[in-house]
Amino acid sequence: MASQALPQTMKTLLQASRQTTEVLSTTAPVPTPTHPEDVLVRVHAAAPCAGELLWAIYFPENIPADKELVPCQDMAGTVVTAPAGSGFAAGDRVYCRIDASRAGAARDYALPRVSELAKIPEGLGWTEAAATPLSALTAWQALFVHGGLDAKAIKGDAAARERNGRIRVLVTGAAGGVGSWAVQLAALAGAKAVVAVCGRGKEQKVRELGATEVVDYTKTSIEEWVAADPAARECDLVFEMVGGKTLAGCWAAVREGGAMVTINTPPELGKPEGLNKQLSKALFFIVEPLGSNLAEISELIAAGKVRPTVDSVWDFADYQKAFAKLEEGHTSGKIIIKVSDEA
Ligand SMILES: NC(=O)c1ccc[n+]([C@@H]2O[C@H](COP(=O)([O-])OP(=O)(O)OC[C@H]3O[C@@H](n4cnc5c(N)ncnc54)[C@H](OP(=O)(O)O)[C@@H]3O)[C@@H](O)[C@H]2O)c1
Repeated sequence: MASQALPQTMKTLLQASRQTTEVLSTTAPVPTPTHPEDVLVRVHAAAPCAGELLWAIYFPENIPADKELVPCQDMAGTVVTAPAGSGFAAGDRVYCRIDASRAGAARDYALPRVSELAKIPEGLGWTEAAATPLSALTAWQALFVHGGLDAKAIKGDAAARERNGRIRVLVTGAAGGVGSWAVQLAALAGAKAVVAVCGRGKEQKVRELGATEVVDYTKTSIEEWVAADPAARECDLVFEMVGGKTLAGCWAAVREGGAMVTINTPPELGKPEGLNKQLSKALFFIVEPLGSNLAEISELIAAGKVRPTVDSVWDFADYQKAFAKLEEGHTSGKIIIKVSDEA
């Protein structure tokens, strides 16, 4: 246990109710560990996720009625107390995604669990660290757990590189939080091609991240782009995170028998009427906040192979501006809220 004295109360953001996206700034008691895996962490930076203030309405089964509605499930901070034998100790610099069923991290002290945490790699600052967990974990799981790319290729496994080298991958939202990780990880894993779908002015950024082909959807729809040369352009794996017309366009981009993994809208809900295309996989999934996956990502960050992208950093007092920028839907990386003066 740490010897430092804790304050009685702390600043916190709180969603006003499950039915509204209004967020208030208030004070609350410092939380106390109650679960055997609870780790008390002093938060330095936290990050919201696009749409998170609507989860209680749209995914009520994932947001328990008694959840304390603290937003921002991503965080970076310093361990205050950790269970004995957990591998974490007071003073460790850690980051994680806190499961959406529990209070988030837009507060001075948060309670992530041991299974969610990883140590922040050397050289990664608080704001960059808070930009990492959700986005990197989602991209990792989409490509390597659900999408059929083999993560062993990243460490140089020749057979895995050979297999990945036959897979054309398309990523929508490619300059955003999750997309920018997906582009980097697919490129690092040796995919045959990484097609990035993004908006105006983002081509250079996604190419720097590893995209080999770019579709600026403000100039050309995905359908038009594919139709210009279907044999060369159709993709084996599509990772879709925008929904609506973009999801419909992805049905044109994925090849017959290919795979589509989505995180915004289930693939079948966006399938154009009358389209008779069979896929080997059409899956919507929800990210698992696994510290073990995050530790693998930490190794890649430490080796300088991947990096988080930060759209903008906001003072705690400016949290409403941070949420407003996020909900505009055209970020270039993650929106970060500074929680402590150290960030
Ligand atoms: N299921 C899960 O577990 C899970 C996990 C993480 C995130 N998500 C969801 O996945 C989505 C993306 O999350 P995020 O954190 O990456 O969001 P984000 O940082 O806001 O990025 C979204 C990106 O989508 C792009 N975009 C907007 N309209 C587009 C269009 N018509 N075509 C192509 N790109 C478009 C935006 O860039 P441009 O400026 O280029 O348009 C932006 O970069 C959100 O809906 C989020 O809630 C789900």
